[in-house]
Amino acid sequence: MPTHSCPIVKRIAVLTGGGDCPGLNAVIRAVVLDAISCGMSVVGVEDGYLGLIENRFREMTEADMVGILARGGTILGSNNKSNPSKFPVGQNPPPPAGDGKVIYKDVTDRCLANLREHGVEAMVVIGGDGTMTSAATFSQMGIPVVGVPKTIDNDIEGTEITFGFQTAVDTATEAMDRCRTTADSHHRAMIVEVMGRNAGWIALHSGVAAGADVILLPEIPFKMETIYTKIMSRSKRGRKSTLVCVSEGAAPQGGAKVVARVDPLSPDPIRLGGVGKFLAEQIEEATGVESRYAVLGHVQRGGTPSAYDRVLSTLLGNHAMVLLREGKVGRMVAVQGGRLTDIDLREPAGRQRLVRADEPLIAAARAVGATFGE
Ligand code: F6P
Repeated sequence: MPTHSCPIVKRIAVLTGGGDCPGLNAVIRAVVLDAISCGMSVVGVEDGYLGLIENRFREMTEADMVGILARGGTILGSNNKSNPSKFPVGQNPPPPAGDGKVIYKDVTDRCLANLREHGVEAMVVIGGDGTMTSAATFSQMGIPVVGVPKTIDNDIEGTEITFGFQTAVDTATEAMDRCRTTADSHHRAMIVEVMGRNAGWIALHSGVAAGADVILLPEIPFKMETIYTKIMSRSKRGRKSTLVCVSEGAAPQGGAKVVARVDPLSPDPIRLGGVGKFLAEQIEEATGVESRYAVLGHVQRGGTPSAYDRVLSTLLGNHAMVLLREGKVGRMVAVQGGRLTDIDLREPAGRQRLVRADEPLIAAARAVGATFGE
């Protein structure tokens, strides 16, 4: 029996956009089961906005929700290269015949036609800042949309927590615990590179949780000298191993972030990575301490969500449905001051919630002996 009021719409679509993240399926489950319980039908859009553009929809039933709560990834598939307002449709010929540039087209009308064809009256869109920006466009075009923020990076403006973050932190912490034992046994410096794009949330939380001696964040440019001093002073005190947790976006003072690859078709083309290798080489050369690095990469994004993230995903998915039933659309669900709330879908567009200098965990980390390398 539904425990809530009747729907204002009868048929909704759900899609997951951007990079995958633990807890996506738990949100889908919360949305679909809630919708079905109050008499709505739900259609899933495959591969994020790409499926919306290519008209790939599928009915979602209660049976589809069985066993997905604990499953990583997204049963709908996702895509991080499909902005309907700027969709790549081809490429000019290379020089000298042309300029070789990608040709983009606004295909939002095609998406609206596809939604109409499937009788969709409203959408729940689960994704990051790029996905929310496109959701805001559909909302402005008259489609009732509610967004659910997702990213392991925890960097979406307007919400203090995103699902998937805690699982990524748990994974990174466990990896660092394992690296620490090798560092101790071999008296090495062990550098562990974690994800996070331009935000240091994963590095800060997992670094503190693993008791890292050096934590390097994109928000605090570091000095190599400070890191060397830390390692040498530890050696003098008989601590022959050092654990360094570095965010992929961290960079030396006056230096640039290390770019792993550029993906020209992606709305956010820069892929960071490689600072761990750089640090290991520099540290070994300058201090003589044998150094190794490990890049955790997509291990942090995959796999089963933690219990915390399953709960958070269920709460956020449910809150999206509450908003939809209340007709409160064009909104993104959010957590502020530990409470569920909602903000304008346009608020996160083009912004990133970075670690601030006055973040209490920075002071707490320093108090237990960690350095941020500044
Ligand atoms: O935003 C999530 C994230 O995993 C970042 O931490 C990372 O920089 C990026 O996505 C990697 O993207 P891709 O999966 O396209 O390589």
